[in-house]
Amino acid sequence: MKITMIGAGYVGLVSGGCFADIGHAVTCVDRDEAKLEALRRGQIPIYEPGLEAIVHDNMQAGRLQFTADLAAAVADADAVFIAVGTPSRAGDGLADLTHVYAVAREIAPHLTGHTVVVTKSTVPVGTGDEIGRVIAKENPAADVAVVSNPEFLREGSAIGDFMQPDRVVIGTDDARARCVMHDIYAPLNLDDDRILMMSRRTAELTKYAGNSFLAMKVTFINEIADLCEKVGADVLDVARGIGMDERIGRKFLQAGPGIGGSCFPKDTLALVKTAHDADSPVRLVETTVTVNDQRKRAMAKKVIRACGGTVRGKTIAILGLTFKPDTDDVRESPAIPIITALQDAGARIRAFDPEGTEQAQTILKNIAYCEDAYDAAAGADALVIVTEWGVFRDLDLARLKQTMAAPVMVDLRNIYDAATVRVAGISYTGIGRSDGTDRRSLVLHQAAE
Ligand code: UGA
Repeated sequence: MKITMIGAGYVGLVSGGCFADIGHAVTCVDRDEAKLEALRRGQIPIYEPGLEAIVHDNMQAGRLQFTADLAAAVADADAVFIAVGTPSRAGDGLADLTHVYAVAREIAPHLTGHTVVVTKSTVPVGTGDEIGRVIAKENPAADVAVVSNPEFLREGSAIGDFMQPDRVVIGTDDARARCVMHDIYAPLNLDDDRILMMSRRTAELTKYAGNSFLAMKVTFINEIADLCEKVGADVLDVARGIGMDERIGRKFLQAGPGIGGSCFPKDTLALVKTAHDADSPVRLVETTVTVNDQRKRAMAKKVIRACGGTVRGKTIAILGLTFKPDTDDVRESPAIPIITALQDAGARIRAFDPEGTEQAQTILKNIAYCEDAYDAAAGADALVIVTEWGVFRDLDLARLKQTMAAPVMVDLRNIYDAATVRVAGISYTGIGRSDGTDRRSLVLHQAAE
C-alpha cells in the first residue's frame, strides 16, 4: 500500500520506518529541509534503538523516502497519516491542534480517489470530526474517511512496540477505511482479537485513558513508596506483592522520582481538560497530575536530607538527565526540577547522561557535563541516580567511593541493593526502601505517641 506520513518527528519516523519495513511504500513528509537532507544521508535526529537501521535499510530497498513535496506525496496515497506534534497549549493544558488542522487544510486540495486520513498524533475526542469538516470545506469533492489510530510506542522500545503490539486500535465507522487499515496492519500477522475496531471518538479517548491509567499506576506506587519510608516497609516487596495479582499486573510499579516524557504529563493534563469541558471530571487523573508535579521537586529534599540537611557549597553528581533510559529525550524529565532545586539550595552540579547531554544543555545551565559516571562522581558530596540507564547498574562501588568527597548515594530508581552499597562504605538512600534512617524515624514517631 502507498502510505504518506506527515511529520518526520518521533512518531512519524518510527511508524513510517516500520510501515516500510513490513512492505509498504512510505513517503515521509516534513517541512524542515535540513532534517530531510540529514535523513536522506541516514542521520536520524533522535536516539531510538534500532531506528537508524530500519530507516537505512528501507531507504536502500526503495520503500522509504523523505520529501517536502506534500502535494505529490498525498496525491496517490492510499492512506495519509498525520503524525505532527500536539504539545500542551499554553494556558489551559489542552492539546494544541494547530499543526494537525494545518495539515488537514494543506492535504485537502491534493487528495485524489478514496483516501484514508489517519491521526497518529495524540488528539482529543472530536478532533477526527473537525479534521473531516476542515477537509470537506477545503475540498468538498474529496473522498475521504478520517480514522483514529493512536500509537502506543514507548520511547526506547518503540520498534518492538510497533512490530509486536499488544493491540492496534482503529477508530472508524467507515467500512472501506476498516479494510484499508486492516490491510495496512496485515503484515504484522496479529491475531484478529488484537486489532480493535471501534468508533473514532472511542479510539481517541482510548489513547488518553491508557496513558492516564499508566500515569496513575506509577503515581500510586510512588505514593506507596513514600508511605513505606514512613512506616518502615519496602516498596519493592509491596510492588511484587500486589503485582503478582494478575488483576493488578507487575508492570509500571517501579517507584521513582516521578513521571516525565512528552506523553504522560501532557496527556493527563489534556484528559483533565477534556473531562472538565464535558462536565465529567476525572478526579483521579487530576490528583495524579498534582502529585506528580510536586514529586519531582520534592526529590531534591531527599537529596538534601541524605547530605545531612544542606547542600550549600556542596557538589552533587547527577547520573541520568533523560526522563527514562534509551532515549535522548529530556522533556519533563525529573532531572530538570531536581537539579534546579539543588542549584537553588546552593549546590554545584556535575552530570552525566549517555545520550541526553545535548538536549539537556539547552535547558540546564551552570552544570559541569561529564564524560562518564566516575567523572561526574569525582569530588562529589553525593551521587544521585535519576535515570536507570543500563551503564549505571553495575558501577565499581570501590572506585566511586575513592573518587567522591563524601560516600553518599541517592538511588531514585532503586537499581542498587542497599546492603551491597553500604558494605562498600557508601551511605545509601533509595525510594521507599526500609533503611535504618526511616526505621529510626518510625520508632521515634511511635515512641512519641
Ligand atoms: C508512554 C506510553 O507507555 C506509551 O504506550 C505511549 O505510546 C507513549 O507514552 C505515547 O503516548 O506516545 P513513554 O512516554 O515513552 O511512553 O514512557 P513510559 O515508558 O511509559 O514511561 C513514562 C514515565 O513513567 C517515565 O518517566 C518513566 O520513568 C516513568 N515510569 C514508568 C516509572 O517511574 N515507573 C514505572 O514503573 C514505569
